[in-house]
Parts: sequence; C-alpha cells; structure tokens
Amino acid sequence: MNEKKIILGIETSCDETAVSIIEEDKKGKIKILSNVVSSQINIHKEFGGVVPELAARSHVEKIDLIAKKAIDESGLDLSDVSAIASTYGPGLVVCLTVGLNFGKALSASLNIPFIGVNHLEGHALSPKLSTNLDFPYLLLLISGGHTQYLSVNGLGKYKRLGTTIDDALGEAFDKIAKLLGIEFPGGPKLESFAKNGDANKFKLPKPIINKGGCNLSFAGLKTAILRISSTVKSNQEKYDLAASFQKTIEEILEIKTQIAFDEFKKISKMKSKTFVIAGGVAANKGIRKKLIKICKKNDFRPIFPEPKLCGDNAAMIALVGLEKYKIKKFDNLDLPASPRLPLDERAKFLKGAGVRF
Ligand code: KG4
Ligand code: ZN
Repeated sequence: MNEKKIILGIETSCDETAVSIIEEDKKGKIKILSNVVSSQINIHKEFGGVVPELAARSHVEKIDLIAKKAIDESGLDLSDVSAIASTYGPGLVVCLTVGLNFGKALSASLNIPFIGVNHLEGHALSPKLSTNLDFPYLLLLISGGHTQYLSVNGLGKYKRLGTTIDDALGEAFDKIAKLLGIEFPGGPKLESFAKNGDANKFKLPKPIINKGGCNLSFAGLKTAILRISSTVKSNQEKYDLAASFQKTIEEILEIKTQIAFDEFKKISKMKSKTFVIAGGVAANKGIRKKLIKICKKNDFRPIFPEPKLCGDNAAMIALVGLEKYKIKKFDNLDLPASPRLPLDERAKFLKGAGVRF
C-alpha cells in the first residue's frame, strides 16, 4: 500500500452531485485537495421538494463533469488515486445508484479498491476533516432526513441513544418554511426570517419533551404551526412565527441534549466529554449557540464541522473511505444501494412507526 493515501469520494444520495479528492500524508495529516458540490436546488425549487426522478437524471448528466472538475482542481491524475469511495445509502435509490455505479466503473477501470460508504457515517466523522477527534464521542446528527443522538464508539460502531419518531429536524425546517411561503429549501432562509421576529409571540408545543428519553418528535409542532399560519396575514407575523419556531427548536434541543449527555456519561463511563453536532442543520447559528451554552454547563467540548462541510459533500465520503482503506475494508462491485441503511443496525426503526411514549 502506498504511503500516501489518496481517496476519491462520490456523493449522489439526494440532490447534490459531489466529488472530492482527499489525501492523507505520511504523518497522518488529512488534506482536502478538491471538494466540488453541485446543487440541484434550481431544478426542484418549483416543486417545493426533491423530485427523485429529476434528481437522478441530473446526477447522470453531471457526474462526469463534476468528477473531471474535482480531478483537475486536485492537481492530480486519476492514476494517483488509491481507492474510490461512493455513498451506497441511505438516500433515494435512483440517485444512490448513479454515484455507486460511477464509482464501481472507476474502480474497475483503474484496478483499485472500491469502498461503499454510509452517508450518515460521512456526517458523523466529518469534523475529522479539520479537527483532531478521538473515539468515543456523543453525536447529534441533524439533517434533512435524520435526527439522532448516537454514541460513536469507532469506525462502524454506533449506539443510538435517541431518534426522531416522525419528521427529521431539517425536514421540519423545510416544511415550516414552505408554510410561511419561503422558497425551497427553506431551512437556512427560515433562520434569517426569524431574526426579524418576536420569538415570544407564539407559544408552541414541545412534543414528548418530558418522556421518551432523548427521542424527539416534531410532527405536533408542525401541525400547531400549520393551524396558526392559516390566520397569519402580515409579514411581521410571519417573522414572529419563524422566530417562535426557531426558539422552540433551540429549547427542545437544550432539554433533549441534557438527557443525551446524562445517558452518554453513563455508557462511556466519563471516558469522553466530546459532543459533535453534524448534518445540514448544524449550520443553524441559533442552534449552535444554544448547544455551545449547554456544553459549557456540562463541561463538554462542542465540535462542529466547518459550515461548508455541514451540508452534503463528498469530502466526508472520501474521509470514511480513507478510514476503511487503512483497514482494508473494501467492497465487491456487486454492492447494492441501500436506501434505508442505518448507523446503529441494532436500533429499532422508529420513524413513522406510531410509537407512543
Ligand atoms: O445534511 P444535509 O445537507 O442533507 C441531508 O443529508 O439531509 O441537510 C439538509 C437539511 C435541509 O433540510 C436544510 O433545510 C437544512 O439541512 N438546513 C438548515 C440550515 N442549513 C441547512 N436548517 C436550519 N437552519 C439552517 N441554517
Ligand atoms: Zn446528508
């Protein structure tokens, strides 16, 4: 195995076509040589959400160009690459298949190892691209499709402590933004809307706040906002509703994170006091501020990926590929796409399962 390890990562699980090349030098230092992300927002905007068939078609049209750009920007040649890593789940099966097949074809033609990567593991390890981070640590994964507290015990070793039983947090942000007339994807814009509003104007519910451990629920909150939004007329009232939602989310996360800290302290036997917050919603400044505050109170070290690495990207996929490459954990070229791939395989699927606490 070369001393220098160079991994080409591919990500097409949803609406971003992304290719990245990272390198680990002889001293174990990781460098992102290129990180190209092409968003499909303009394609899906008019539909108010991601249309799988259109997303897959766009991946097919763009993947070669994005890969070429990533190779050019890295200053390397394809022959320098040590292994190919592609996301194989979770995500939209028609989208996953594009990046997966492209990665397999590259690996076969270059005669180098192929590595399938769990997209969520990419988010989970993403801060390692810019920070020193040792296992174990507590992770809050907040993205468009997932909301989970996990104990991250090592590569591929996850114990889920809590999860949403209905909507993911990013999904809740996007749906509520839509109700307020904000263009898709509304999450980031909802946050700036909220800055102009009175956060105490509307009292909103905090579902399962006193039960269910650090499991979460956002459906009731969404319904409450749906009811209120039909009576909201002025822009100021919309800002107030956005601000009240943002504040409620911060309070929910403060309470549930305290529970997660207590559970994690018990299982990790105080070996770690590191708290990683990853996924697209980790870019939310109000949530960051609140979580930093609760970390201080509990003497935890908060770690966020760089903002540009919070959302979907292929550098995080290449990173997991690198870790697997080092232990020679390669996959065969018949690896199928796995749309519901979990992080903790032993944890029960609760989303939409009608769970009652
Ligand atoms: O991790 P990600 O890029 O894709 C998934 O794997 O789902 O997360 C995308 C989600 C979207 O729902 C988006 O609206 C949300 O992250 N998001 C935000 C913010 N930035 C992105 N939500 C709230 N506040 C933000 N600043
Ligand atoms: Zn993601």
